[in-house]
Amino acid sequence: EKGDYRHFMLKEIHEQSRVVQATMEGRLTDRRVLEQALGTDAENLLQDVRHVQIIACGTSYHAGMVARYWIEELAGIPCSVEVASEFRYRKHVIQPDTLFLCISQSGETADTLAALRQAKEAGFRAALAICNVPGSSLVRESDLVIMTQAGPEIGVASTKAFTTQLTALLLFTLALARRNGLPEAEEADMVQALRQVPGQIDQVLALDTPIARLSEAFVDKHHSLFLGRGSQFPVALEGALKLKEISYIHAEAYPAGELKHGPLALVDSEMPVVTVAPNNALMEKLRSNLEEVRARGGELFVFADEAVGLAEEPGVHVMNMPSVHPITAPIVYTIPLQLLSYHVAVLKGTDVDQPRNLAKSVTVE
Ligand code: M6R
Repeated sequence: EKGDYRHFMLKEIHEQSRVVQATMEGRLTDRRVLEQALGTDAENLLQDVRHVQIIACGTSYHAGMVARYWIEELAGIPCSVEVASEFRYRKHVIQPDTLFLCISQSGETADTLAALRQAKEAGFRAALAICNVPGSSLVRESDLVIMTQAGPEIGVASTKAFTTQLTALLLFTLALARRNGLPEAEEADMVQALRQVPGQIDQVLALDTPIARLSEAFVDKHHSLFLGRGSQFPVALEGALKLKEISYIHAEAYPAGELKHGPLALVDSEMPVVTVAPNNALMEKLRSNLEEVRARGGELFVFADEAVGLAEEPGVHVMNMPSVHPITAPIVYTIPLQLLSYHVAVLKGTDVDQPRNLAKSVTVE
């Protein structure tokens, strides 16, 4: 039931601090991830993993893209990510020491299941599923399962499934990283960062009114651009997907460094540009992107760490975000983009929970 919320999507956006908390519950101490809590056989199955192959579709694929940044940075293990519909129709090389990781809210996505079944024939170390539906085909066919605790997701546009997938993926990454030399103190630091995420999500949800105000600038637009660097690039992709799905505004996401290589040609006053810019080493580079956009009369919407102190100026709208650890930033920065597309869709009067042409679960090709 929607309760007091106007749409399931809004209710599900607001559930995120609780379900992210539920997804880490019982799987962490104050200093470390409890590997046994990831599955009774986790210890054995994670042993000798030398490569991770992630497969998923849509929003779940974006979660996989974030995880690649984490896995390579923290565990130092090569990680490939591919959409299931591409993976299943090409020849590929799977090393025997590969962990095959499928991410799916429903656990019934046809392409993801087909990719898993096909990969099984090629042989790999173990199949891990990150899934939200107990008893789904994906859960039944995998060796190891980390359940997200998002609860039923009714809105076709995925929200809480994504942030709980990221939470589960970070737990998994930390378990893998410890086996591959991540110092105890660093793991403890990241566990602390993860524990702060539910509170930070609530802080961002409190920005609902100013974000709703920003959304007014999008209602009469036909195109938009989303930019991010590093692990915020998949967040930009996810933000753009949300806007496309529910408001039917064409939204494209680019790694910010690609701007000059083509999309800048599109930028003018009719093309709002959304940027997710946490306070890390890439911030300075992002500043120059902002200049490039502004110089062409583009309107910029920047979600940035309040500590950066970006100033509002004509054509630049800044939404100050709480300071977050760079590792957990993708989880927190997803929230304002969900709210932005939600409000744009409400203003446009589209069917937020049931966008045209889309189904909640894509069980056929
Ligand atoms: O159930 P799954 O996670 O496997 O679904 C994958 C996609 O179909 C899904 O994420 C889709 O992209 C959503 N509508 C995105 O909001």
